[in-house]
Amino acid sequence: MSQASSITISLDGSNKTAAMPLLSGTLGPQVADIRKLYGQLGIFTYDPGYGETASCESKITYIDGDEGVLLYRGYPIEQLAENSDFIEVCYLLMYGELPNQDQLAKFRAGVTRHTMVHEQIRNFFNGFRRDAHPMAIMCGVVGALAAFYHDNLDINDAHQREIAAYRLIAKVPTIAAMAYKYALGQPFVYPRNDLSYAANFLHMLNAVPAEEYKVSPVLERAMDRILVLHADHEQNASTSTVRLAGSTGANPFACIAAGIAALWGPAHGGANEAVLKMLGEIGTPEKIPAFIEQVKDKNSNVKLMGFGHRVYKNFDPRAKIMKETCHEVLGELGIKDEPLLDMAMEMERIALTDDYFVSRKLYPNVDFYSGIILKAMGIPTSMFTVIFAVARTVGWVSQWKEMIEDPSQRIGRPRQIYTGAAVRDYVDVARR
Ligand code: SDX
Repeated sequence: MSQASSITISLDGSNKTAAMPLLSGTLGPQVADIRKLYGQLGIFTYDPGYGETASCESKITYIDGDEGVLLYRGYPIEQLAENSDFIEVCYLLMYGELPNQDQLAKFRAGVTRHTMVHEQIRNFFNGFRRDAHPMAIMCGVVGALAAFYHDNLDINDAHQREIAAYRLIAKVPTIAAMAYKYALGQPFVYPRNDLSYAANFLHMLNAVPAEEYKVSPVLERAMDRILVLHADHEQNASTSTVRLAGSTGANPFACIAAGIAALWGPAHGGANEAVLKMLGEIGTPEKIPAFIEQVKDKNSNVKLMGFGHRVYKNFDPRAKIMKETCHEVLGELGIKDEPLLDMAMEMERIALTDDYFVSRKLYPNVDFYSGIILKAMGIPTSMFTVIFAVARTVGWVSQWKEMIEDPSQRIGRPRQIYTGAAVRDYVDVARR
């Protein structure tokens, strides 16, 4: 980060001015460093939702929302989706460089050795109803991991931070699969160290003790690509939640549980589940125009789920890759016609020719097509956001690690503009 120049802020009607350094990064907009603004001018900035605020310096992911660009450590998402795999992307996000063969083998083995969870974790599940939403289980059980490792969780020790990161990347899929099996009433399936990350996850989701389960290479490749596409995304709501929790010194398991809770919202990671629900409720392509009219009616409070994005004002590059993957997976699974895909494509066609969406730069985002692939892979909608959380865990732990290692990091503590009552004296109840 370098100081290119500065901006001067002056208060009308006073002789007060303040020069704020203008900082430049590698790519993207410059930032005004306002850390001395209150000291110099006695004012705060106001930015609900932080749409125009850089909360940190980061080297992990870069997004150009206008151009529809997404880079993980400088590598375009399109190239990683085509040429890499999830465990290699995990290494890249964590350490900043693509691994050589030895580094990759060592990292893969390190993560694999942490895939099992303590046997007592199984007891947590008995406390949940069988029909509990799996994201509720994920929040609870991932947070509870701290109870098993709290004694050796010195976040200021680099080695212990790394082990915690390995444990989370390795154990979150195991817990996710346990949540799914618990809902089915089927026995939990132990991880298999001879399988790839994606294949092991699919095996834990689908295997039963009664017979051998062979993971389809088609599903393995599709799951791996879904995990790569969802791995990290700059300072989104759940990542910002993880950073804010981590800035207090909370342990990484608690921070990731907070991230899972934030991701659950339908405006964020819960959108993939909401897209399938929306398509199901519309029912047929003929009813899409009436639904679009409902979305355009502000009073309806109906949104086109899977569309729009705070940053992308162009196509979400992940949505494009997801759409291509959708066609590939359906084709390779021999699914000739998938009404939901037809509906989604027709909805995209209509929306992208409608001025309401074009004028607001609303395009399909990562969640618009992902659910259709997951459904084709036999995964129930209730598990869609869980799979998003499995993928995003590496992004969360990478961002958490970067924050802890940032010498300028301090506890997150935003301010406010207060518009409540001015100071006033208490009145006894008898006189109110
Ligand atoms: C993810 O941040 C990330 O990076 C997130 C994510 C990641 O990888 O971590 O990319 C994952 O969360 C993707 C987004 C998934 N959510 C959805 O698909 C839910 C539907 N989308 C919307 O809720 C909305 O688009 C948001 C929440 C995604 C973005 O909201 P913003 O940036 O606050 O946009 P906005 O509400 O200011 O919208 C601007 C206008 C408004 O209309 P006007 O007030 O100008 O008349 O666009 C409208 C909004 O009403 N609008 C929509 C819409 N999204 C925005 N109208 C209809 N349908 C939509 N989906």
